[in-house]
Amino acid sequence: MDQSIKAYIKLLVQEAVQQSPGLPGSLPTGRTQYVIANWKMNKTLQEMLDFLQQLKEGNGVEVVVCPPAPLLYPAKLYVQGQNKDIHIGAQNTHQEENGAYTGETAASLLKEIGCSHCIIGHSERRQYAQEDDATVNLKAKQALKRGLTPIICIGETLQQKQQNQTEKVLTTQMLGALEGIDASEVVFAYEPVWAIGTGESATAEEAQRIHAYIRAVLAHLDKENAEKVSILYGGSVNENNAQEFAAMTDIDGVLVGGASLKVDSFQKIIAVFAKGA
Ligand code: PGA
Repeated sequence: MDQSIKAYIKLLVQEAVQQSPGLPGSLPTGRTQYVIANWKMNKTLQEMLDFLQQLKEGNGVEVVVCPPAPLLYPAKLYVQGQNKDIHIGAQNTHQEENGAYTGETAASLLKEIGCSHCIIGHSERRQYAQEDDATVNLKAKQALKRGLTPIICIGETLQQKQQNQTEKVLTTQMLGALEGIDASEVVFAYEPVWAIGTGESATAEEAQRIHAYIRAVLAHLDKENAEKVSILYGGSVNENNAQEFAAMTDIDGVLVGGASLKVDSFQKIIAVFAKGA
């Protein structure tokens, strides 16, 4: 590893340790708390409508449901018609304004149909669609340009974790994603790849330590704004472990895959974060 990057990371780790003892936070942080459903390639139109009919508002927590692209507009119409304070987010967008990109969706269209957020750089897309940090950066810029809040996913693989590369990987992903972007306009989701869909989440203490590190990187970029950025945890979050994550100072919500497919478990996770909001 390049010596200067090594020194930089060492410094950030030290700062993160100093700034955050990793203890559960009892004071409200003032940051928006999110509970986000990432449905990936799941659910039919009818299943979505049943889910949204039962889903209750967040009580101070920003609830965002991210269904597959063809369900975004009906989802928006439904929550609007019901007057429910539930946000609709996309799982991806394209970095260009428009053009010959078969199968892609423009950020401007997502905005037009009522989306407020967009997940960007999910590890599955980094894997299957070869999205790199530069693409993530362009997508985030395009989303912001069109008024969508990017939820930028970062995280290390199991191999990178075993090789003690976590901080290096996260720093590279963050610096790449944020090039030319004001960090206070985005949401970060720390999603260790080894924890996604495996049933093996990070421990809350482990996640807190990494979130404090992410915030230290943000503070290096912009000291004032670092405290304002919501950093979510994702990876095998469920109704049983949500409480432990919610109790941590630097964990400002969760991005939920599997456990967001059942309205009961998703609602329980929202309730956990609503208590602290
Ligand atoms: P999971 O997925 O909750 O099923 O682990 C999380 C995600 O991929 O965002």
